[in-house]
Amino acid sequence: MKELKPLNGKTIILGVSGGIAAYKACDLASGLRQMGASVHVVLTSNAKEFVSPLTFQTLTRNPVHCEQFEALGEWRPEHIELAQKADLLLVAPATANVIAKLATGICDDLLTTIVMASRAKIMLAPAMNPNMFEHPATQHNLNILENRYRYEIIPPDFGEVACGDFGQGKMASLDVILTSITSMMFTGPMLSGRHILVTGGGTREAIDPVRFIGNRSSGKMGIAMADAAYARGADVTLVSTVGVERPYPVILVETAQDMQEAVEGEFDSCDALVMTAAVSDFRPLAFSAHKIKKTESEDIVLELTKNPDILDLLGRMKQNDQVIIGFAAESESVMVHAAEKLARKNLDAIVGNDITVPDIGFGSDDNAVVILTADGGKENLPRMPKRAIAEHLCDLLDELFQAKNAVAVSK
Ligand code: CTP
Repeated sequence: MKELKPLNGKTIILGVSGGIAAYKACDLASGLRQMGASVHVVLTSNAKEFVSPLTFQTLTRNPVHCEQFEALGEWRPEHIELAQKADLLLVAPATANVIAKLATGICDDLLTTIVMASRAKIMLAPAMNPNMFEHPATQHNLNILENRYRYEIIPPDFGEVACGDFGQGKMASLDVILTSITSMMFTGPMLSGRHILVTGGGTREAIDPVRFIGNRSSGKMGIAMADAAYARGADVTLVSTVGVERPYPVILVETAQDMQEAVEGEFDSCDALVMTAAVSDFRPLAFSAHKIKKTESEDIVLELTKNPDILDLLGRMKQNDQVIIGFAAESESVMVHAAEKLARKNLDAIVGNDITVPDIGFGSDDNAVVILTADGGKENLPRMPKRAIAEHLCDLLDELFQAKNAVAVSK
């Protein structure tokens, strides 16, 4: 079975400079370690004013480096060793001061020295007061780092910053930084140049302004799938009932009909559709514009009407070079029902799971699934994180694209 964590075997140096966003670097260090990376933190002396080295040492389970001239037993300082073996050097937050020093080659502390000594990929997540970010000096320095030195800059978000000012300066969200890193680090089969359309979450069908018919889907599988495809260089569009901040387009929808409209709008231009969403099969026949009061009657009969089966419709529209993967949530005879949906909906593959197994599937970070393919293939994936299932599906997409190409060439 392939490795489950996207950053397994990677060494990442996380440089933290002295801004209030330094506290967010704790979550970042922890997130990177959980994704499998060996994380080594370097703090500037200003950063130490905001967060203690002990916090990072505990989160990363590695020593934290702060001083340029540490008393060391080795002839060669460990941080120079690290700088040379690191796969990625991430500075988050990167203050205006550190950015200016890096752009001009000043290395007067450990962090700037390590950046200069490293051959690793370098990524900066600037965070500062919006006026400082907009200042021509900072913009000039970022331009040098991005265009001359090929550092990857993850732009800060707009919003209210710690000092109360409003504008662009908040460090990019943890999700955006982690997604950019997994994308930068990925070395397996790529999906570059492919447009992958992913759906996720459970649709909600309104009964009245307050109530809806919904389901237990958390949207985690769709997000994991979209993240994994993005990490492999695909152009990803996620159509989801769950809002997330991502570096790729996320179309937020609520009902099955909204989802149908959004998916149909993207389908022609996509190379693959992966439909993880739990789409409500029925919706209330009539929507009550006012809140239904309990005093109106003792019993209520809710009339439902069928929703469109999005996957079924698109299976009929599918072009020869397009791939469609569906999901099947079953409470019994998983294989039988999944195989039947695979054929009926004209899919290339279907991912079946047994929703009666406790602790996995809906709402959980993990699932155990069986993947059936239209050519008769079958793969059982034991319990694993949804992100690992997504990695398997990306490998499968790559194989399915290759198979379709081979058929097209032989014709
Ligand atoms: N699906 C869809 N539109 C629907 C219902 C389901 O596109 N109205 C898609 C789901 O996103 C999933 C696949 O069809 O990829 C199978 O969904 P599932 O709920 O397991 O099966 P259904 O086809 O709805 O059949 P049933 O609920 O009777 O098992």
